[in-house]
Amino acid sequence: RRVLSVASECVPLLKTGGLADVVGALPKALAVHGWDMRVLMPAYPGLAETMKRPKVVWTDTDLFGGPAQVLGGRVEGIDVLLLDAPHLYARDGGPYSDDSGDYADNPERFAALCWAAAEIARAGMSDGWRPEVVHAHDWQGGLAPVYLRQAGVEEVRSVITVHNIAFQGRAGADKLDALRLRPDDFTSEGFEFWGDISALKAGLVMADAITTVSPTYANELMRGEFGMGLEGVLQARAGVLHGILNGVDTDVWSPDTDPAIHPYSARTLSEKRKNRAALIKEFGLGPVPGPLAVVVSRLTTQKGLDLLPDRLAEFTWRGGGLVVLGSGGPEIEMALRHQADLNPRRIGIRTGYDEALSHRIFAGGDAVLVPSRFEPCGLTQMYGLRYGTVPLVAATGGLADTVIDANPAAVSAGVATGIVFHTTDALGLEQALRRLIALYDDTKTWRQLQRNGMKAELDWTRSSAAYATLYEGLFE
Ligand code: ADP
Ligand code: GLC
Repeated sequence: RRVLSVASECVPLLKTGGLADVVGALPKALAVHGWDMRVLMPAYPGLAETMKRPKVVWTDTDLFGGPAQVLGGRVEGIDVLLLDAPHLYARDGGPYSDDSGDYADNPERFAALCWAAAEIARAGMSDGWRPEVVHAHDWQGGLAPVYLRQAGVEEVRSVITVHNIAFQGRAGADKLDALRLRPDDFTSEGFEFWGDISALKAGLVMADAITTVSPTYANELMRGEFGMGLEGVLQARAGVLHGILNGVDTDVWSPDTDPAIHPYSARTLSEKRKNRAALIKEFGLGPVPGPLAVVVSRLTTQKGLDLLPDRLAEFTWRGGGLVVLGSGGPEIEMALRHQADLNPRRIGIRTGYDEALSHRIFAGGDAVLVPSRFEPCGLTQMYGLRYGTVPLVAATGGLADTVIDANPAAVSAGVATGIVFHTTDALGLEQALRRLIALYDDTKTWRQLQRNGMKAELDWTRSSAAYATLYEGLFE
């Protein structure tokens, strides 16, 4: 059975966040269940060159303003379909924006991706491959279910996964024609949202099933505090909304086989110290008597990291240290740099995107901080669990589903894996950091947290089975 995954990023080709990890992991995870998944994504500059012997499997003379072709091939074990449309994707900046902000034609750029997906589902590709399910991710895939419906393709089912409802793909109503959308669906039951076109809402309304990346986030999405205006749409579709937790790609994230670090396992935890010492040296810190906290994250208010700088004087005074690898977010970066300048022997920060360094950080840290205001799933707390790097997280979304708080009951039951705090505000984070200091001092409990986390089942086994069951259920 065949499924076409439609996304704007995919590891190992291009990644700006967890979406890419998940899109890249799903094909391998679903193959186990007999699903042949191919990933359709834009051919951003340089990507086609990473494919060995790409074949042209689909062409169009006018895809939203220019010629386009799809190049099919394998990249590190994944069947990838690159939508090559230079007028849309051959740009010097990033996948969504450049130095002057978001590309003005982002609606067209990702509508084109969805159009190609729907055409491939309708007529198949020149190698004869045609999907039975189209699985769209986030707003960039949102119009695929609409185009499928417009083309009258009833036999192909559609699923949309919400990785982050904060990004909705809005476009002015004047773009209806340009986006090849039928005006009859421009209603509040369709893809109209406050007078605009919303690509995400389109997908939520038209897809046969909706998933999101954790059970808690699935519930949160139906509430005003988290739904970002789409809570009503999700309530109306609660019957087809499923929360399926992301897994971790254990080929990439396992401390006993990770080539980027000094390897260790739950049995050889003392070896983790070498990674800690190396990290402290790499960041030029002095001795850190308390816990060495780490952050690997986009530096945004979603992640609650704006609250961190002002907590650091107390945290370091109590013995803690901090290493940050961040991307984006100039204001939070500046505030963190200021703290690092005040206390360079305890606080270190790097910015930019660095995969290998992120592995050294997860291996070398004692605790990973994820104080998010909302978090659909979150991957770094799971990497922390696998690396014996105790997560300190806010009780929201996938963070609440993956970390068990070290309260006295959980500790005596032997199941605790981290610190979970309830309100993402200054006081909440301050208290959580105090608990971190105290727990780290309690060596026996700390070891138990580390070992429990390392044992936790976080791979794709369970979740890929859930996706397979969902796909199959679409045909009943
Ligand atoms: P989100 O997708 O909201 O950013 P996730 O926790 O799901 O959050 O995924 C973030 C992913 O990006 C993780 O794989 C994390 O390790 C990685 N990451 C974030 N920032 C950086 C960075 N500066 N360098 C390397 N990897 C990073
Ligand atoms: C989004 C979310 C993150 C999630 C990721 C992968 O980027 O912010 O919580 O882990 O998608 O699903």
